[in-house]
Amino acid sequence: MSLRSGVLDAGYRSVVRPVLFRAHGGDPELIHESLIRVLAGLGPLQRSALRLLSGPPTSPVTVAGIRFPGRVGVAAGLDKDGVAVEAWSALGFGFAELGTVTALAQPGNDRPRLYRLRASRAIINRMGFNNAGAQAMADRLDRIGVRRGASTCGLPLGISIGKSKATPLSDAVSDYVTSLRMLARYADYVAINVSSPNTPGLRTLQDEGLLRDLLSGLTHEAAQLAHPLGPVPIFVKIAPDLSDAQLDRVVEVVTEHGGQGIIATNTTLARDGLAPADSVHAEQAGGLSGAPLTGRALEVVRRVAGSSSLPVVGVGGIMTPDDAVRMLDAGAQLVQLYTGFIYAGNALVAGINARTQGRTT
Ligand SMILES: Cc1cc2nc3c(=O)[nH]c(=O)nc-3n(C[C@H](O)[C@H](O)[C@H](O)COP(=O)(O)O)c2cc1C
Repeated sequence: MSLRSGVLDAGYRSVVRPVLFRAHGGDPELIHESLIRVLAGLGPLQRSALRLLSGPPTSPVTVAGIRFPGRVGVAAGLDKDGVAVEAWSALGFGFAELGTVTALAQPGNDRPRLYRLRASRAIINRMGFNNAGAQAMADRLDRIGVRRGASTCGLPLGISIGKSKATPLSDAVSDYVTSLRMLARYADYVAINVSSPNTPGLRTLQDEGLLRDLLSGLTHEAAQLAHPLGPVPIFVKIAPDLSDAQLDRVVEVVTEHGGQGIIATNTTLARDGLAPADSVHAEQAGGLSGAPLTGRALEVVRRVAGSSSLPVVGVGGIMTPDDAVRMLDAGAQLVQLYTGFIYAGNALVAGINARTQGRTT
């Protein structure tokens, strides 16, 4: 562990996390909301101080024509409406994936819908794409002056789009296209979320025919938008619960229909690897993330990277810098954090930056 990440780690575990996890009567969603509010409220001076503490991203890499200053990014769902977009680079991240947003604003599922499984270092969530809608995100990014290719907030931004709950699956393509049209000018890449377990039927969009229609619709629209940098790169985020045969088909379809990357993986419906102390929450409906997902996400990344030339963003159960290095060694070019960031804070980001410094693959 580097000195910086050691100090940050001790501080986060002994001071920040105990306070954070006990705030709001321990309600994880309220805690999350206040964390995002605090980050969103930081001024330029506070962000500079945080940047000094966190250290810079290391090991830049170009993926799908996008220059990333570092390998570790914010996973989708942490900043669903992009309200803390100006803070992520100060925490040492090399990119941030905002969203998932949908064409129509929607409240998501009823609360409670987020559970921390501490003994397992895991989370179960069934948020259901609660978000203020694609237009609200576009307006916010516009106000800040975000533009594709400009790294206005100090890092490249992905924007994750999903299907509005009220839109039937048969109209999914036009729903995604609507969001793409509103957001493409702000995004360095657009991530197509077809893998959340919390919108009924969404995962069937990973089936060959539906995925083909969706990707052709989106790549066609991206080409029509006539941006000086060319069509915005489209990445597809997949579930860890696909069989090997399904994974191979998804990769073929994404390659054939102009997708430029795979993000692997979203949360799992499996419940393997949970500690007995967490059995009260184990049966909650939703997607499981964190340590129980580490092994499966790594397998998926290895299979996708081994069977195609598409760039891979590895996400799922990265709880330590070693987990991140294993993802990169398995063929991912970039990694993302959600649950690991909740449990370890920006010490994990600094630790990954330290471990990947000078990496060229
Ligand atoms: C509370 C919560 C909300 C999430 N929301 C989204 C989302 O809106 N879009 C998405 O693509 N992934 C979402 N995810 C999945 C994460 O981006 C990530 O793929 C998954 O949690 C596995 O990574 P992790 O083990 O590092 O958390 C969410 C995860 C959690 C825990």
